[in-house]
Amino acid sequence: MTTPNRSVVAVAGGTGFVGRAIVRELAARGSHVIVLSHLPPKATTDRSIEFRQADVTRPDSLPGALAGVDALVICLGFRNSPIEAPRRGRTFEKVDAGGTVALVAAAKAAAVGRLVYISGAGAASDAPRHWFRAKWRAEEAVRGSGIVYTIFRPSWIYGPGDKSLNRFIGFARWLPFVPQIGNGRQIMAPVFVDDVGALVADALVAPAADNATLEVGGPESLSMDQIIRAALRAQGRHRLILHAPSALMKLATRPLTLLPSPPMTPDAIDFIVQAAPVDTGPLTAALPRHLTPLAEALASYLRPRD
Ligand SMILES: NC(=O)c1ccc[n+]([C@@H]2O[C@H](COP(=O)([O-])OP(=O)(O)OC[C@H]3O[C@@H](n4cnc5c(N)ncnc54)[C@H](OP(=O)(O)O)[C@@H]3O)[C@@H](O)[C@H]2O)c1
Repeated sequence: MTTPNRSVVAVAGGTGFVGRAIVRELAARGSHVIVLSHLPPKATTDRSIEFRQADVTRPDSLPGALAGVDALVICLGFRNSPIEAPRRGRTFEKVDAGGTVALVAAAKAAAVGRLVYISGAGAASDAPRHWFRAKWRAEEAVRGSGIVYTIFRPSWIYGPGDKSLNRFIGFARWLPFVPQIGNGRQIMAPVFVDDVGALVADALVAPAADNATLEVGGPESLSMDQIIRAALRAQGRHRLILHAPSALMKLATRPLTLLPSPPMTPDAIDFIVQAAPVDTGPLTAALPRHLTPLAEALASYLRPRD
């Protein structure tokens, strides 16, 4: 049930890692939040959150889900991303691009007043990687919608519930080393998921973010190895990081692409080892806020175990 004058914000992908942080922040700031999911609605005791079923690959499911929505945040990714499973419809083109195009069309029809789209650092029409071209197609739908928008292009997002840093932390719990694909030297600007949630909520009310495309990163630029070492330090663990050459891993995973739902693919390995540098100057100018340094954020949810 919504109350008059309370903004109604729908979050597509609101059940996911990044989307959950956005939902939490919007609800904490007093919005009525509608979480869109392709699964049947969940019951909730939180009166500021409502679940509605909306499958972005089924455009007919979208108009009803967007009824009464003031603003729409699109934070979509297919299950098991970045490991595509074309035979199951789990691809960047179908979900990230096609899903966003369908949502934007439904948002226009539902007279939604504001869009935020979570893209990715590297999106470009001529990007060498198809996932960045899919993100670009999604961005173009948002930019061409005629609706006031903010597009965020985040570097690498971490926090409780992420599927990447937590995997390394899990390895360190059981193994005397941490296995990693690639040389670990790719540079990222790790950004805490709570900060992403706060930036999205900021953007919805900040005129400086109107019709802006902003790269998003945390306050430090670090290599993947430095990030993993910081997580190990936060847990008081000492582990070697063992690097598996990505070319070898790509060769080993090639046959898996024949499976309907592969556990790993050569493309996913390219995705995992890519650098994600960003220029956060325009972000800081449009949406000034303190972004949490890596060690401080890790200390908020990891505890020394040794
Ligand atoms: N994590 C990062 O480091 C990072 C960095 C840069 C950019 N991003 C971008 O941020 C976005 C979210 O990433 P994430 O890590 O939060 O992914 P995630 O945890 O896998 O969440 C993906 C979300 O998409 C929804 N979804 C999947 N298929 C759907 C469908 N057919 N219809 C409706 N909803 C569907 C899922 O909801 P249901 O299954 O409940 O439907 C889920 O809520 C992605 O676009 C990603 O590219 C992430």
